[in-house]
Amino acid sequence: MAGSRQLIVVANRLPVRRVTVDGQPQWATSPGGLVSALAPVMSERPESLWVGWTGAAGNAPAPFTHDGINLHPVELSRADVELYYEGFSNGTLWPLYHDAISQPEYHRTWWDTYVKVNRRFADAVLSVADPDAVVWVHDYQLQLVPGMLREASPDLRIGFFFHTPFPARELFLRLPWRSRVVRALLGADLLGFQSEVGAHNFRHVVPRVIDSDDLEVEVGDEDISFVGRTVRTRNLPIGIDFDRFEAGASTPDAADHQAELRAQLNQPRRVLLGVDRLDYTKGIERRLRAYNELLSEDRVSADDTVLIQIAEPSRSNVNGYAEIRGAVEQMVGEINGRHGTMARPAVHYLHRSHSFDELMGFYRLADVMLVTPFRDGMNLVAKEYVATRFDDTGVLVLSEFAGAAHELHDAVLVNPYDIDGLKEAIEYAVFMPMEEQTRRMTAMRTAIETNSSAAWARGFLEILESA
Ligand code: G6P
Repeated sequence: MAGSRQLIVVANRLPVRRVTVDGQPQWATSPGGLVSALAPVMSERPESLWVGWTGAAGNAPAPFTHDGINLHPVELSRADVELYYEGFSNGTLWPLYHDAISQPEYHRTWWDTYVKVNRRFADAVLSVADPDAVVWVHDYQLQLVPGMLREASPDLRIGFFFHTPFPARELFLRLPWRSRVVRALLGADLLGFQSEVGAHNFRHVVPRVIDSDDLEVEVGDEDISFVGRTVRTRNLPIGIDFDRFEAGASTPDAADHQAELRAQLNQPRRVLLGVDRLDYTKGIERRLRAYNELLSEDRVSADDTVLIQIAEPSRSNVNGYAEIRGAVEQMVGEINGRHGTMARPAVHYLHRSHSFDELMGFYRLADVMLVTPFRDGMNLVAKEYVATRFDDTGVLVLSEFAGAAHELHDAVLVNPYDIDGLKEAIEYAVFMPMEEQTRRMTAMRTAIETNSSAAWARGFLEILESA
Protein backbone atom coordinates (compact mmCIF):
# COMPACT_ATOMS: atom_id res chain seq x y z
CA MET A 1 0.00 0.00 0.00
CA ALA A 2 1.35 3.44 -0.94
CA GLY A 3 2.37 5.45 2.08
CA SER A 4 3.06 2.59 4.46
CA ARG A 5 6.73 2.01 3.66
CA GLN A 6 9.61 3.80 5.25
CA LEU A 7 10.74 6.83 3.20
CA ILE A 8 14.40 7.82 3.10
CA VAL A 9 15.32 11.08 1.43
CA VAL A 10 18.95 11.41 0.35
CA ALA A 11 20.27 14.82 -0.68
CA ASN A 12 23.69 16.43 -0.50
CA ARG A 13 22.36 18.94 2.04
CA LEU A 14 20.24 18.32 5.09
CA PRO A 15 17.26 20.69 5.27
CA VAL A 16 18.80 22.62 8.19
CA ARG A 17 21.53 25.20 8.69
CA ARG A 18 23.45 26.46 11.68
CA VAL A 19 22.36 29.87 13.02
CA THR A 20 23.21 31.84 16.14
CA VAL A 21 20.32 33.00 18.32
CA ASP A 22 21.17 35.09 21.43
CA GLY A 23 24.78 34.00 21.12
CA GLN A 24 23.78 30.31 21.05
CA PRO A 25 24.31 28.08 17.99
CA GLN A 26 21.09 26.40 16.86
CA TRP A 27 19.64 24.55 13.87
CA ALA A 28 17.13 26.34 11.67
CA THR A 29 15.13 24.89 8.78
CA SER A 30 16.71 25.90 5.46
CA PRO A 31 14.68 28.19 3.23
CA GLY A 32 15.01 25.78 0.23
CA GLY A 33 11.98 24.46 -1.64
CA LEU A 34 12.78 20.79 -1.16
CA VAL A 35 11.96 20.68 2.53
CA SER A 36 8.50 22.21 2.04
CA ALA A 37 7.86 19.58 -0.65
CA LEU A 38 9.02 16.62 1.37
CA ALA A 39 8.05 17.43 4.96
CA PRO A 40 4.35 16.59 4.39
CA VAL A 41 5.03 13.18 2.82
CA MET A 42 7.70 12.33 5.37
CA SER A 43 5.36 13.02 8.26
CA GLU A 44 2.83 10.53 6.84
CA ARG A 45 5.21 7.58 6.90
CA PRO A 46 6.78 5.57 9.70
CA GLU A 47 10.43 6.12 10.53
CA SER A 48 11.10 8.46 7.62
CA LEU A 49 14.43 10.17 7.60
CA TRP A 50 16.66 12.50 5.63
CA VAL A 51 20.28 11.59 4.94
CA GLY A 52 22.59 14.51 4.07
CA TRP A 53 25.45 16.84 4.91
CA THR A 54 25.26 19.74 7.39
CA GLY A 55 27.36 22.03 5.18
CA ALA A 56 30.33 22.09 7.57
CA ALA A 57 33.53 20.09 7.11
CA GLY A 58 34.64 17.72 9.87
CA ASN A 59 32.82 15.67 12.48
CA ALA A 60 29.14 15.13 11.78
CA PRO A 61 26.68 15.37 14.66
CA ALA A 62 24.80 12.24 15.78
CA PRO A 63 21.34 11.74 14.19
CA PHE A 64 18.80 14.22 15.54
CA THR A 65 15.28 15.47 14.92
CA HIS A 66 14.44 19.01 13.85
CA ASP A 67 10.94 20.34 13.14
CA GLY A 68 9.62 16.78 13.17
CA ILE A 69 12.10 15.51 10.55
CA ASN A 70 14.62 12.82 11.51
CA LEU A 71 18.02 13.85 10.23
CA HIS A 72 20.93 11.53 9.61
CA PRO A 73 24.12 13.56 8.99
CA VAL A 74 26.87 12.27 6.68
CA GLU A 75 30.40 13.41 7.44
CA LEU A 76 32.59 15.21 4.87
CA SER A 77 36.21 15.97 5.68
CA ARG A 78 37.86 19.18 4.45
CA ALA A 79 39.40 17.14 1.60
CA ASP A 80 35.98 15.63 0.70
CA VAL A 81 34.50 19.11 0.52
CA GLU A 82 37.30 20.21 -1.77
CA LEU A 83 37.30 17.19 -4.10
CA TYR A 84 33.71 15.91 -4.02
CA TYR A 85 31.62 19.08 -3.39
CA GLU A 86 33.68 21.94 -4.79
CA GLY A 87 35.51 19.68 -7.26
CA PHE A 88 33.53 16.98 -9.03
CA SER A 89 30.02 18.21 -8.13
CA ASN A 90 30.50 21.92 -8.76
CA GLY A 91 33.63 22.11 -10.89
CA THR A 92 32.77 19.22 -13.26
CA LEU A 93 29.09 18.29 -13.21
CA TRP A 94 27.46 21.67 -12.49
CA PRO A 95 29.05 23.47 -15.47
CA LEU A 96 28.72 20.42 -17.75
CA TYR A 97 25.01 20.04 -16.97
CA HIS A 98 24.49 23.77 -17.55
CA ASP A 99 25.66 23.60 -21.16
CA ALA A 100 29.33 24.19 -20.26
CA ILE A 101 28.67 27.92 -19.69
CA SER A 102 31.85 27.71 -17.64
CA GLN A 103 34.49 25.17 -18.70
CA PRO A 104 34.09 21.87 -16.77
CA GLU A 105 37.30 20.42 -15.37
CA TYR A 106 37.99 16.69 -15.42
CA HIS A 107 40.27 15.38 -12.66
CA ARG A 108 40.62 11.75 -11.66
CA THR A 109 41.19 12.69 -8.00
CA TRP A 110 37.86 14.54 -7.98
CA TRP A 111 36.09 11.53 -9.49
CA ASP A 112 37.68 9.11 -7.00
CA THR A 113 36.42 11.19 -4.10
CA TYR A 114 32.98 11.52 -5.72
CA VAL A 115 32.78 7.70 -5.78
CA LYS A 116 33.99 7.47 -2.19
CA VAL A 117 31.53 10.04 -0.86
CA ASN A 118 28.60 8.61 -2.85
CA ARG A 119 29.47 5.25 -1.24
CA ARG A 120 29.34 6.91 2.19
CA PHE A 121 25.84 8.26 1.49
CA ALA A 122 24.71 4.83 0.22
CA ASP A 123 26.14 3.12 3.32
CA ALA A 124 24.37 5.61 5.55
CA VAL A 125 21.08 4.70 3.85
CA LEU A 126 21.77 0.97 4.09
CA SER A 127 22.50 1.24 7.80
CA VAL A 128 18.96 2.45 8.53
CA ALA A 129 16.77 1.23 5.64
CA ASP A 130 14.05 -1.42 5.89
CA PRO A 131 14.55 -4.01 3.11
CA ASP A 132 11.52 -2.64 1.20
CA ALA A 133 12.05 1.05 2.00
CA VAL A 134 11.41 3.79 -0.55
CA VAL A 135 14.60 5.76 -1.12
CA TRP A 136 14.44 9.07 -2.95
CA VAL A 137 17.84 10.38 -4.04
CA HIS A 138 18.25 14.01 -5.15
CA ASP A 139 20.43 15.73 -7.69
CA TYR A 140 23.75 15.59 -9.49
CA GLN A 141 25.94 15.30 -6.39
CA LEU A 142 24.64 11.77 -5.71
CA GLN A 143 24.19 10.08 -9.08
CA LEU A 144 26.04 6.90 -8.08
CA VAL A 145 23.86 6.21 -5.03
CA PRO A 146 20.99 4.42 -6.90
CA GLY A 147 23.38 1.82 -8.37
CA MET A 148 25.16 1.28 -5.06
CA LEU A 149 21.86 0.76 -3.25
CA ARG A 150 20.48 -1.58 -5.91
CA GLU A 151 23.52 -3.79 -5.72
CA ALA A 152 23.44 -4.06 -1.94
CA SER A 153 19.68 -4.28 -1.39
CA PRO A 154 17.72 -5.28 -4.51
CA ASP A 155 14.24 -4.90 -2.96
CA LEU A 156 14.50 -1.20 -2.24
CA ARG A 157 12.26 1.10 -4.25
CA ILE A 158 14.66 3.73 -5.58
CA GLY A 159 13.77 7.09 -7.12
CA PHE A 160 16.12 9.79 -8.36
CA PHE A 161 15.32 13.40 -9.27
CA PHE A 162 17.51 15.81 -11.23
CA HIS A 163 16.99 19.38 -10.01
CA THR A 164 19.43 20.57 -12.68
CA PRO A 165 19.00 20.14 -16.40
CA PHE A 166 20.26 16.92 -17.96
CA PRO A 167 22.39 18.12 -20.88
CA ALA A 168 22.34 17.31 -24.58
CA ARG A 169 23.97 14.04 -25.51
CA GLU A 170 27.09 15.45 -27.15
CA LEU A 171 27.83 17.44 -24.01
CA PHE A 172 27.24 14.59 -21.59
CA LEU A 173 29.45 12.30 -23.67
CA ARG A 174 32.47 14.45 -22.80
CA LEU A 175 32.36 13.11 -19.25
CA PRO A 176 35.18 10.57 -18.92
CA TRP A 177 33.14 8.53 -16.40
CA ARG A 178 29.87 8.72 -18.40
CA SER A 179 29.25 4.99 -18.49
CA ARG A 180 29.69 4.56 -14.72
CA VAL A 181 27.29 7.43 -14.08
CA VAL A 182 24.58 6.18 -16.44
CA ARG A 183 24.76 2.61 -15.15
CA ALA A 184 24.46 3.83 -11.58
CA LEU A 185 21.44 6.00 -12.43
CA LEU A 186 19.82 2.96 -14.05
CA GLY A 187 19.86 1.35 -10.60
CA ALA A 188 16.78 3.50 -9.92
CA ASP A 189 13.17 2.49 -10.63
CA LEU A 190 12.19 6.05 -11.52
CA LEU A 191 14.28 8.92 -12.88
CA GLY A 192 12.52 12.29 -12.66
CA PHE A 193 13.47 15.39 -14.69
CA GLN A 194 12.46 19.07 -14.66
CA SER A 195 11.50 18.96 -18.33
CA GLU A 196 10.78 16.54 -21.14
CA VAL A 197 14.01 17.71 -22.79
CA GLY A 198 16.07 16.38 -19.86
CA ALA A 199 14.27 13.02 -19.90
CA HIS A 200 14.75 12.79 -23.67
CA ASN A 201 18.45 13.69 -23.40
CA PHE A 202 18.97 10.96 -20.84
CA ARG A 203 17.24 8.28 -22.94
CA HIS A 204 19.28 9.41 -25.91
CA VAL A 205 22.54 8.94 -24.02
CA VAL A 206 21.86 5.39 -22.76
CA PRO A 207 22.49 3.41 -25.99
CA ARG A 208 25.69 5.37 -26.60
CA VAL A 209 27.29 4.54 -23.28
CA ILE A 210 25.99 1.05 -22.57
CA ASP A 211 27.11 -1.72 -24.86
CA SER A 212 23.99 -3.84 -25.46
CA ASP A 213 26.12 -6.88 -26.38
CA ASP A 214 27.43 -6.75 -22.88
CA LEU A 215 24.38 -5.72 -20.84
CA GLU A 216 20.76 -6.16 -21.75
CA VAL A 217 19.31 -2.68 -22.39
CA GLU A 218 16.37 -1.41 -24.42
CA VAL A 219 15.19 2.17 -24.57
CA GLY A 220 11.47 2.75 -25.13
CA ASP A 221 9.46 5.97 -25.43
CA GLU A 222 9.44 6.50 -21.68
CA ASP A 223 10.73 3.35 -20.06
CA ILE A 224 14.13 1.74 -20.25
CA SER A 225 14.53 -1.95 -19.73
CA PHE A 226 17.86 -2.66 -18.10
CA VAL A 227 19.07 -6.14 -17.05
CA GLY A 228 15.53 -7.37 -16.52
CA ARG A 229 14.19 -4.34 -14.60
CA THR A 230 12.15 -1.37 -15.81
CA VAL A 231 13.52 2.11 -15.24
CA ARG A 232 10.91 4.78 -15.79
CA THR A 233 11.95 8.22 -17.01
CA ARG A 234 9.44 11.03 -16.47
CA ASN A 235 9.04 14.76 -16.85
CA LEU A 236 8.02 15.87 -13.34
CA PRO A 237 8.70 19.61 -12.92
CA ILE A 238 8.96 20.68 -9.28
CA GLY A 239 6.42 23.12 -7.83
CA ILE A 240 6.44 25.51 -4.88
CA ASP A 241 4.34 25.86 -1.76
CA PHE A 242 2.07 28.40 -3.48
CA ASP A 243 -0.16 29.03 -0.45
CA ARG A 244 2.79 29.76 1.82
CA PHE A 245 4.14 32.42 -0.56
CA GLU A 246 0.73 33.93 -1.24
CA ALA A 247 -0.08 34.09 2.47
CA GLY A 248 3.43 35.30 3.37
CA ALA A 249 3.11 38.22 0.98
CA SER A 250 -0.37 39.15 2.21
CA THR A 251 0.53 39.77 5.87
CA PRO A 252 0.57 43.27 7.42
CA ASP A 253 4.30 42.70 8.11
CA ALA A 254 5.03 42.18 4.42
CA ALA A 255 3.06 45.34 3.60
CA ASP A 256 5.01 47.29 6.27
CA HIS A 257 8.29 45.95 4.97
CA GLN A 258 7.36 46.87 1.43
CA ALA A 259 6.41 50.42 2.50
CA GLU A 260 9.60 50.78 4.51
CA LEU A 261 11.74 49.65 1.55
CA ARG A 262 9.95 52.02 -0.80
CA ALA A 263 10.56 54.92 1.59
CA GLN A 264 14.24 53.99 1.89
CA LEU A 265 14.45 54.03 -1.90
CA ASN A 266 12.94 57.56 -2.03
CA GLN A 267 9.60 56.41 -3.40
CA PRO A 268 10.63 55.32 -6.91
CA ARG A 269 7.83 54.91 -9.43
CA ARG A 270 9.09 51.53 -10.50
CA VAL A 271 11.20 48.83 -8.91
CA LEU A 272 12.94 46.05 -10.82
CA LEU A 273 14.23 43.06 -8.87
CA GLY A 274 16.65 40.19 -9.40
CA VAL A 275 17.06 37.43 -6.77
CA ASP A 276 19.72 34.83 -7.52
CA ARG A 277 22.46 32.73 -6.04
CA LEU A 278 25.65 34.43 -7.24
CA ASP A 279 26.28 31.86 -9.97
CA TYR A 280 27.55 32.20 -13.54
CA THR A 281 24.51 30.32 -14.83
CA LYS A 282 22.16 33.09 -13.69
CA GLY A 283 23.07 35.71 -16.29
CA ILE A 284 23.30 38.53 -13.72
CA GLU A 285 26.08 40.48 -15.40
CA ARG A 286 24.43 40.45 -18.82
CA ARG A 287 21.13 41.52 -17.29
CA LEU A 288 22.91 44.47 -15.65
CA ARG A 289 24.60 45.33 -18.92
CA ALA A 290 21.24 45.46 -20.67
CA TYR A 291 19.91 47.74 -17.92
CA ASN A 292 22.97 49.97 -18.17
CA GLU A 293 22.37 50.45 -21.90
CA LEU A 294 18.67 51.21 -21.36
CA LEU A 295 19.65 53.95 -18.93
CA SER A 296 22.34 55.32 -21.26
CA GLU A 297 19.88 55.45 -24.14
CA ASP A 298 17.26 57.19 -21.94
CA ARG A 299 14.77 54.44 -22.58
CA VAL A 300 14.45 54.00 -18.82
CA SER A 301 15.26 56.76 -16.33
CA ALA A 302 17.14 56.30 -13.07
CA ASP A 303 15.17 59.32 -11.75
CA ASP A 304 12.09 57.20 -11.24
CA THR A 305 13.21 53.59 -11.67
CA VAL A 306 15.53 51.49 -9.55
CA LEU A 307 16.95 47.99 -9.85
CA ILE A 308 17.58 45.86 -6.78
CA GLN A 309 19.87 42.89 -7.32
CA ILE A 310 20.04 40.37 -4.49
CA ALA A 311 22.94 37.97 -5.02
CA GLU A 312 23.17 35.28 -2.39
CA PRO A 313 26.78 34.21 -1.69
CA SER A 314 27.45 30.75 -3.09
CA ARG A 315 30.32 28.28 -3.65
CA SER A 316 32.95 30.98 -3.27
CA ASN A 317 35.86 28.47 -3.41
CA VAL A 318 34.77 26.98 -6.74
CA ASN A 319 36.44 28.11 -9.96
CA GLY A 320 34.40 30.67 -11.83
CA TYR A 321 32.50 32.05 -8.84
CA ALA A 322 35.04 34.69 -7.76
CA GLU A 323 35.24 35.86 -11.38
CA ILE A 324 31.50 36.24 -11.76
CA ARG A 325 31.33 38.13 -8.47
CA GLY A 326 34.05 40.50 -9.68
CA ALA A 327 32.28 41.04 -13.00
CA VAL A 328 28.89 41.69 -11.38
CA GLU A 329 30.31 44.11 -8.81
CA GLN A 330 32.25 45.98 -11.46
CA MET A 331 29.09 46.37 -13.52
CA VAL A 332 27.12 47.63 -10.49
CA GLY A 333 29.89 50.18 -9.89
CA GLU A 334 29.84 51.26 -13.51
CA ILE A 335 26.05 51.73 -13.59
CA ASN A 336 25.99 53.70 -10.36
CA GLY A 337 29.03 55.73 -11.37
CA ARG A 338 27.35 56.74 -14.59
CA HIS A 339 23.66 56.93 -13.72
CA GLY A 340 23.28 57.18 -9.94
CA THR A 341 23.24 60.18 -7.62
CA MET A 342 24.19 60.36 -3.94
CA ALA A 343 20.56 60.13 -2.91
CA ARG A 344 19.49 57.70 -5.60
CA PRO A 345 21.75 54.89 -6.80
CA ALA A 346 20.51 53.29 -10.03
CA VAL A 347 21.24 49.76 -8.75
CA HIS A 348 21.15 48.44 -5.19
CA TYR A 349 23.31 45.36 -4.88
CA LEU A 350 22.88 43.11 -1.83
CA HIS A 351 25.45 40.33 -1.58
CA ARG A 352 23.85 38.33 1.25
CA SER A 353 20.95 35.99 1.95
CA HIS A 354 17.58 37.19 3.18
CA SER A 355 14.96 35.65 5.42
CA PHE A 356 11.61 34.49 4.06
CA ASP A 357 9.88 37.56 5.55
CA GLU A 358 12.40 39.96 4.02
CA LEU A 359 12.00 38.27 0.67
CA MET A 360 8.22 38.72 0.87
CA GLY A 361 8.76 42.49 1.18
CA PHE A 362 11.05 42.53 -1.86
CA TYR A 363 8.69 40.46 -4.01
CA ARG A 364 5.78 42.71 -3.06
CA LEU A 365 7.85 45.78 -3.89
CA ALA A 366 8.93 44.56 -7.33
CA ASP A 367 6.95 45.86 -10.29
CA VAL A 368 9.19 43.86 -12.59
CA MET A 369 10.99 40.64 -11.70
CA LEU A 370 14.05 39.74 -13.79
CA VAL A 371 14.83 36.02 -14.02
CA THR A 372 17.26 35.66 -16.91
CA PRO A 373 19.54 32.63 -16.40
CA PHE A 374 21.51 31.20 -19.31
CA ARG A 375 20.43 27.77 -18.15
CA ASP A 376 18.38 26.67 -15.12
CA GLY A 377 16.76 23.34 -14.20
CA MET A 378 13.62 25.10 -12.95
CA ASN A 379 14.19 28.46 -11.16
CA LEU A 380 11.88 28.57 -8.19
CA VAL A 381 12.32 32.34 -7.72
CA ALA A 382 10.20 32.89 -10.85
CA LYS A 383 7.38 30.81 -9.37
CA GLU A 384 7.75 32.37 -5.91
CA TYR A 385 7.37 35.88 -7.34
CA VAL A 386 4.20 34.88 -9.19
CA ALA A 387 2.76 33.25 -6.05
CA THR A 388 3.30 36.44 -4.01
CA ARG A 389 1.41 38.63 -6.53
CA PHE A 390 -2.01 38.05 -4.96
CA ASP A 391 -3.40 41.23 -6.54
CA ASP A 392 -2.46 40.07 -10.08
CA THR A 393 -0.06 42.95 -10.73
CA GLY A 394 3.62 42.80 -11.65
CA VAL A 395 5.58 41.53 -14.64
CA LEU A 396 7.92 38.57 -14.89
CA VAL A 397 10.74 38.71 -17.44
CA LEU A 398 11.85 35.10 -17.83
CA SER A 399 14.60 33.31 -19.70
CA GLU A 400 13.51 30.75 -22.28
CA PHE A 401 16.25 28.54 -20.88
CA ALA A 402 14.82 28.23 -17.36
CA GLY A 403 12.69 25.13 -16.75
CA ALA A 404 9.97 27.46 -15.41
CA ALA A 405 9.43 28.80 -18.94
CA HIS A 406 7.73 25.50 -19.86
CA GLU A 407 4.92 26.41 -17.46
CA LEU A 408 4.97 30.23 -17.37
CA HIS A 409 4.06 30.99 -20.98
CA ASP A 410 2.60 34.36 -20.01
CA ALA A 411 5.88 35.74 -18.73
CA VAL A 412 7.79 38.09 -21.04
CA LEU A 413 10.06 35.39 -22.42
CA VAL A 414 13.56 36.32 -23.48
CA ASN A 415 16.79 34.86 -24.84
CA PRO A 416 19.25 35.93 -22.12
CA TYR A 417 22.21 35.88 -24.51
CA ASP A 418 20.60 38.52 -26.72
CA ILE A 419 21.37 41.93 -25.20
CA ASP A 420 19.06 43.81 -27.58
CA GLY A 421 16.30 41.29 -26.90
CA LEU A 422 16.86 41.65 -23.14
CA LYS A 423 16.65 45.44 -23.43
CA GLU A 424 13.40 45.23 -25.37
CA ALA A 425 11.94 42.76 -22.87
CA ILE A 426 12.88 44.90 -19.85
CA GLU A 427 11.57 48.08 -21.48
CA TYR A 428 8.36 46.32 -22.48
CA ALA A 429 7.92 45.05 -18.91
CA VAL A 430 8.59 48.46 -17.32
CA PHE A 431 5.90 50.15 -19.40
CA MET A 432 3.37 47.32 -19.57
CA PRO A 433 -0.21 48.60 -19.11
CA MET A 434 -2.01 47.36 -16.00
CA GLU A 435 -4.61 45.45 -17.97
CA GLU A 436 -1.98 43.36 -19.69
CA GLN A 437 -0.14 42.80 -16.40
CA THR A 438 -3.32 41.45 -14.83
CA ARG A 439 -4.12 39.19 -17.76
CA ARG A 440 -0.65 37.67 -17.81
CA MET A 441 -0.30 37.38 -14.04
CA THR A 442 -3.70 35.71 -13.62
CA ALA A 443 -2.76 33.10 -16.23
CA MET A 444 0.64 32.47 -14.62
CA ARG A 445 -0.86 32.09 -11.17
CA THR A 446 -3.38 29.56 -12.46
CA ALA A 447 -0.59 27.64 -14.19
CA ILE A 448 1.45 27.10 -11.05
CA GLU A 449 -1.13 27.04 -8.27
CA THR A 450 -2.15 23.43 -8.85
CA ASN A 451 1.37 21.97 -9.09
CA SER A 452 2.23 22.60 -5.44
CA SER A 453 5.47 21.20 -4.09
CA ALA A 454 3.61 18.72 -1.88
CA ALA A 455 1.54 17.52 -4.86
CA TRP A 456 4.77 17.13 -6.83
CA ALA A 457 6.31 14.94 -4.11
CA ARG A 458 3.15 12.85 -3.82
CA GLY A 459 2.99 12.43 -7.61
CA PHE A 460 6.61 11.29 -7.77
CA LEU A 461 6.15 8.74 -4.98
CA GLU A 462 2.94 7.46 -6.51
CA ILE A 463 4.70 6.63 -9.78
CA LEU A 464 7.65 5.19 -7.91
CA GLU A 465 5.49 2.88 -5.83
CA SER A 466 3.02 1.88 -8.53
CA ALA A 467 5.37 -0.43 -10.43
C1 G6P B 1 20.96 24.10 -6.94
C2 G6P B 1 21.17 22.60 -6.88
C3 G6P B 1 20.98 22.06 -5.47
C4 G6P B 1 21.84 22.85 -4.51
C5 G6P B 1 21.52 24.35 -4.61
C6 G6P B 1 22.40 25.22 -3.69
O1 G6P B 1 19.62 24.40 -6.75
O2 G6P B 1 20.30 21.94 -7.80
O3 G6P B 1 21.31 20.70 -5.41
O4 G6P B 1 21.67 22.41 -3.19
O5 G6P B 1 21.73 24.76 -5.94
O6 G6P B 1 23.74 24.98 -3.94
P1 G6P B 1 24.74 24.46 -2.80
O7 G6P B 1 26.00 24.13 -3.52
O8 G6P B 1 24.88 25.60 -1.86
O9 G6P B 1 24.11 23.26 -2.16
